[in-house]
Amino acid sequence: MRVITTIHEMQNEIKTQKSLSKSVGFVPTMGFLHEGHLTLLKKARLENDIVVLSIFVNPLQFGPAEDFSTYPRDFNRDKSLAECEGVDFLFYPSVEEMYHHSSSVRVVVQERTDVLCGKSRPGHFDGVATVLTKLFNIVLPTKAYFGIKDAQQVAVVEGLITDFNFPIELIAVDIVREEDGLAKSSRNVNLLPEERRQAAVIYKSLIAAKAAIEGGERDPQVIKSLVSAMITSGFKGQIDYVEVYSYPQLKDLAKLDGTCIIAAAVKFSKVRLIDNIILEVSQEIGGAK
Ligand code: PAJ
Repeated sequence: MRVITTIHEMQNEIKTQKSLSKSVGFVPTMGFLHEGHLTLLKKARLENDIVVLSIFVNPLQFGPAEDFSTYPRDFNRDKSLAECEGVDFLFYPSVEEMYHHSSSVRVVVQERTDVLCGKSRPGHFDGVATVLTKLFNIVLPTKAYFGIKDAQQVAVVEGLITDFNFPIELIAVDIVREEDGLAKSSRNVNLLPEERRQAAVIYKSLIAAKAAIEGGERDPQVIKSLVSAMITSGFKGQIDYVEVYSYPQLKDLAKLDGTCIIAAAVKFSKVRLIDNIILEVSQEIGGAK
């Protein structure tokens, strides 16, 4: 595995690989790798000749009151994990390397940003879309791997790839969870021990919502209330949102029907966690998959 820190060197290396007709699988991350990231890497390894992992904590996607400075970082640990997963190139640029002059152009996401994380994190998806536009142009991937854990990000990236005609196949990968159901996240290390115990209720509430839908419930308001009530009875964390939308459109629904997402974001003392489930809902009772 080679660690590359400059854009110039990464582009040269990709040029060489492309001239040899190698397919390139790309996993963009902010590091502090966990089983979720490793699952993306394993899939990329299986499906491509070359695997590129990027580690870059992107300041553009953090709001002023958010956790950019306390976002966990451990490059040496990440490097060993990447090596074990058979990564060929670890792209690890500095902030200076990526944004060394004030940018004259930024990508603005027009749709799907007034809901879920877009609503509570203004500018977040513009930052994600801007850094991914740069990374896609640097790495020129054949396939790019993203986790459904960030379902809104997957929907936004789908839009970015389509609208900007990137010749990239987006591969969406299922959520990897801890044993008690908590979605794996780099941010979980910043939960206090008591908060870590309580955080499992987020997924439990989503499972309860799924069971209610399987039992015939089709009213989004009822589902939202059920999830909120379960979360707030389980702990003192503050709910940022509990929402039900069509997926990937992220539009309001009068009644659950078709592909739907139930998503929640919860604030703890130092971190904000997100989780979701995506269901196929039919009008028959029990029709949720
Ligand atoms: P990061 O939070 O590091 O996540 C990198 C990728 O790993 C994302 O596609 C995310 O959805 C996926 N992932 C995280 N936790 C997961 C889990 N429990 N199961 C499955 N996949 C999981 O998302 C970002 O970084 C950034 O926004 C980025 C796309 C790199 C742009 O800066």
